[in-house]
Amino acid sequence: MPGDGILDSYEETPYAAGSHWETHPDSMAGVAAILGVAAPDVRTCRVLEIGCATGGNILPPAVALPGAKFVGIDLSPRQIEMARRVAEALGLSNVELHAMDLMAFPADAGQFDYVICHGVYSWVPESVRSKIVELCARHLAPRGVAFISFNTYPGWHVRGIVRDMMAFHAGRFETHQQKIAEARRIMSIAAEAVSDRETIFAKIVADEAREIVDQLDYYVLHEHLDAINRPFHFHEFQRQLEEFGLTYLSESPLGSSAWGRHGGKIQPALAQLPPEPLAQEQYLDFLTNRVFRRSLVCHRGALVERRLHPEALAGMQFSAMIRAQNPLMDVRSTEPERFETGNGKTISTNNPIMKGMLVGLSQAWPNAASFNDIRAAAGDVDDAAVCGMLLEFVLSGIVTAHGVALPLVSAISRRPRGFDYARLQASDGLDVVTNVRHRSVVLEGIDPAVLALLDGQQDAAQIIAALEQRIEAGEIDIGAPADPAQRRAALENYLPPCLDRLHRGALLVG
Ligand SMILES: C[S@@+](CC[C@H](N)C(=O)[O-])C[C@H]1O[C@@H](n2cnc3c(N)ncnc32)[C@H](O)[C@@H]1O
Repeated sequence: MPGDGILDSYEETPYAAGSHWETHPDSMAGVAAILGVAAPDVRTCRVLEIGCATGGNILPPAVALPGAKFVGIDLSPRQIEMARRVAEALGLSNVELHAMDLMAFPADAGQFDYVICHGVYSWVPESVRSKIVELCARHLAPRGVAFISFNTYPGWHVRGIVRDMMAFHAGRFETHQQKIAEARRIMSIAAEAVSDRETIFAKIVADEAREIVDQLDYYVLHEHLDAINRPFHFHEFQRQLEEFGLTYLSESPLGSSAWGRHGGKIQPALAQLPPEPLAQEQYLDFLTNRVFRRSLVCHRGALVERRLHPEALAGMQFSAMIRAQNPLMDVRSTEPERFETGNGKTISTNNPIMKGMLVGLSQAWPNAASFNDIRAAAGDVDDAAVCGMLLEFVLSGIVTAHGVALPLVSAISRRPRGFDYARLQASDGLDVVTNVRHRSVVLEGIDPAVLALLDGQQDAAQIIAALEQRIEAGEIDIGAPADPAQRRAALENYLPPCLDRLHRGALLVG
């Protein structure tokens, strides 16, 4: 059992693990395929999550992929108990959850197609860190893919300044609550103290103080106040992988690795530096002051050639949460058209082939479009050109490549069924839920109440009747008039756009 208070810290203040879409086996498989590694079939894969905490990252894919098997381990029995309760409520039979020290992970546990270790590597003693890499080497299937995230330099040279200050100050206090409150207090004192200076240091403190305000208590505690938080340079991480016969594959998503399309003057700067892909990864971190890496790893022998394989895209599926600003556009013209992407950005193109592809992707959402569908939408162009353009979209972070089609409906059904994991979250009163694509979705108004009701058995009239009952019981409020007829009319107006939001949020499976 490791010292350093790790167990006690998570037992007292659990880490409310959320979903990290970059760790979904489907996302990992998509990136690996583009690097020429044909990772195991996601639908029937075996997944190990090391340090799964309360299960928020391992349970949603277990719901979405009933043919796959999932094993989650964590040092903290309290967190594993919380995860088990959710797995039981969901009736999952494809998940095993074990409270155990990863140092004692059984050698006969077999092979896993995907290993996930998010938010653990930098936060454990050196012996445990080495063991994580050893477990990946020992238990990863020959063409399997592991995900390891860690805090990295140079970004943490800067962030470390405020962590040191918060940790020093919080160390004077006893309880977690006091420590967290005092860490926040010293950040605001420090920000105020330097607010009349125009120095780089003042900017750092102001930026970090702003970040801390938005972070939840459990995150502030475990990220900044726990005893261990060891950042690494990328080259140190890669060296540790090599010691165990593993190698670095890419970041997840692919676009955040050196292969990606980085804006501004970063790309031309990288072009002037040594071109070996692993060196480029390190230079990218130096140029962008990176703080965190989400790295995919495989056996050294699985990576035949370190290069991009656009031709692999021909067998894949593609999703993009984009919307054309002008749905009536003439795709074949060379008029520029704008598309809104899921991350709040807008892209513009006058290339008819690209316009066709983007329209095809936007029409398929929330589902993925097959390569053939996109090829048809592109018009008169050969496979290689479509692969090349899709690769550009993936490298720019606009499109995600997938190996499989996840279970989402293409149209809203008469008796809609919500994603079970998200329905449970919504029933528990959460308004940020995890969708089938393993992304967090923020729900508005009474959308959580509607989602909780979508069991695939009720039509619109029954859903509205159930909502009326909850309004009468004072459980939810839509600010509708008290008059029953008017309230019903308000609900009838509310439901269709709400279902549309849930559908576009990749939350409807039936
Ligand atoms: C910062 S939390 C990350 C939780 C989750 N993976 C996430 O990223 O949201 C680190 C987790 O690693 C677990 N952990 C630390 N040392 C461990 C060990 N030796 N064996 C198993 N789990 C460990 C902790 O209990 C904690 O739940």
